Amino acid sequence: MRATLTRRITFSAAHRYRRPEWDDARNAATFGACAHPNWHGHTYQCDVTVGGEIDPLTGFSADLGALDAALKTRVMDVLDHRNLVLDVPAFNEGQLIPTSENVAWWIAREVQDALGPSTRVLRVRVAEEPGLWAEVEPS
Ligand code: NI
Repeated sequence: MRATLTRRITFSAAHRYRRPEWDDARNAATFGACAHPNWHGHTYQCDVTVGGEIDPLTGFSADLGALDAALKTRVMDVLDHRNLVLDVPAFNEGQLIPTSENVAWWIAREVQDALGPSTRVLRVRVAEEPGLWAEVEPS
C-alpha cells in the first residue's frame, strides 16, 4: 500500500520580477506590480508532499525526520526572511525569475537532492497568497 505525506511550511521573503535585458517599460508591461523596483514581500505557504510504500513495521510511508531536516536546512534557512533575488543565487537577476512556479521547482529540487532516492518528492505547492498557488509534480 502506498501513501503520501505532506508537510506545510511558511516563510516570508521579498522579490521582484525583472529581466535585465528588457527595458523598464517592457518589464512593467510584462510583470505589472511584480516589477516594482523597490521590491515587495509575501508570506509564502508551501506544501511539500513525499510518499512511498507504507512500511508494515512502522506504518510510515516516508522519513518525516529527514523531510523536516531537509526543509529546514535547504529551504527555510535559505529563503526565510530573505530577498530571493539578492540572497539566493538561483534567483539572481538574469537567472530564474522568482515566480511561484520557479520557487516550487527550486524547492522540489533542493528537497529531493537532500532526501536521496529512497524518498520521492511527489508534489510541491507554493502559495504567495491564500487564493493563488503553483504546483509542480517532479516525478
Ligand atoms: Ni510578488
